[in-house]
Amino acid sequence: MERYVSEKVFPMVDGMYVDDGPGTFQPVINPANGEVIAEVWFGQKEVIDRAVNAAEEAQRLFSRIPAPKRAEYLYRLGSLLRRDKEKLSRILTLENGKPIDEARGEVQEAIDMAFYMAGEGRRLFGQTTPAELPDKFAMSVRVPIGVVGLITPWNFPIAIAAWKAFPALIAGNAVIWKPASETPLMADALSRLVIEAGFPKGVFNVVYVYGHEATYMVEHPKIKVISFTGSTEVGRTIAERGGRMIKRVSLEMGGKNAVIVLEDADLELATEAILWCAFGTSGQRCTACSRVLAHVDIKEALEKRLLEGIRALKVGPGLDETVRVGPVINRAALEKIHRYVEIGQQEGRLLIGGHPLAEGTYAKGFYYAPTLFTDVSPNARIAQEEIFGPVLSMIPIHSLDEAIEINNRVMYGLSSSIFTRDVNRVFRAMQALDTGIIYVNAGTTGAEIHLPFGGTKMTGNGHRDSGIQALDVFTEWKSIYVDYSGKLQRAQIDVSYDD
Ligand code: UN1
Repeated sequence: MERYVSEKVFPMVDGMYVDDGPGTFQPVINPANGEVIAEVWFGQKEVIDRAVNAAEEAQRLFSRIPAPKRAEYLYRLGSLLRRDKEKLSRILTLENGKPIDEARGEVQEAIDMAFYMAGEGRRLFGQTTPAELPDKFAMSVRVPIGVVGLITPWNFPIAIAAWKAFPALIAGNAVIWKPASETPLMADALSRLVIEAGFPKGVFNVVYVYGHEATYMVEHPKIKVISFTGSTEVGRTIAERGGRMIKRVSLEMGGKNAVIVLEDADLELATEAILWCAFGTSGQRCTACSRVLAHVDIKEALEKRLLEGIRALKVGPGLDETVRVGPVINRAALEKIHRYVEIGQQEGRLLIGGHPLAEGTYAKGFYYAPTLFTDVSPNARIAQEEIFGPVLSMIPIHSLDEAIEINNRVMYGLSSSIFTRDVNRVFRAMQALDTGIIYVNAGTTGAEIHLPFGGTKMTGNGHRDSGIQALDVFTEWKSIYVDYSGKLQRAQIDVSYDD
């Protein structure tokens, strides 16, 4: 039985592990076999207050350290993450369930993000621009905001934290991070590396609290920004509560992503890509593909290939290197997925899967058979609502225009993809697909960290994670005018073009 390095995990506040506040232990469960891997101390408001006070004090000093020097901590952290990549990947698989190779990919995202944001320490570009008046200088600079709160999901426990925390830190903020209650071990592991990297105490704090205590974080007057990734339902509550306080809230939420396969597509490539983006991470990505919009001319051929591919997918514990589909996160997820499949049985034709796996090695974990429906109406619930599991719906289409319309006919707008060899249709799709991320001849997953990550409509509220754009979430703009004329100048010169 594999357990975490430390059997008992405590919040990290002000560079120390805190075990004296009110709270209770909660087990961390390995979704592959239901075993307890560790126990985590879940605190209450007190731990948030402690973290906020420490962060506030630390941030004052941290923001005075020049950004290229703040970057040194991040470079060191990046190297430590790289040193421990394999160890971290195993912990990730242990608590989240995803296949080990995917876990390695995720840890790599955190490594990349650390180095990328460390590089920003020498940029953090502002703007210089001519002023309207002589002997006057105008510029705009980014400044940190203060203490920021991060609320992150269990499906990418370290990558998403890295997308948020590293830009926040390089910009000179202090962080209070509430990881998902299912995946506290990655948070603990990262907190240990943050200490080892030598970050000043208090600039990075981890609190383990339940959802209702997270509300306290959102409403805390000293936490100036909340960056959240999770469900649209929770995001809406955060937006409402944060909005009342005129707080900056960055939301990254659901997806209902489609792959469009036109009649001239490379079907072998499309099949491989769909299998990966629909069933990788057991479909538990906000970028996961859950709809295939297949041209009627190739629909049957694609169905056949997908069926063959699904039959060959090995489902099992993620630490087995040959496994392609791991367990889902917990029993509640398993039940939710199955409820959708039951609805789907009324709405489309089930081709394969459609049930939990409970025999033999599956008995103690939370496994769901990769599932494919076909002839699903674009308006069916399984084609509209986020299932967050290994369930894929095929929808027949007759033209690119129809595919675009159906792609856009959902409440979300995160990711989309098109397979075709026709460059004109590629560009038409790039222009018309209403999603924040578009892939051409690749599946709906695989975002790189130096591009903005996020979506339109109910997927987000206009902010972006990762990329240089993440800095916008964690900085204010300060515009500065320096008048070196030595006299009072007033901006009232108007050059008329009519003369
Ligand atoms: C998510 O699904 O929540 O693009 C994040 C991807 C990954 C990140 C996904 N790099 O699928």
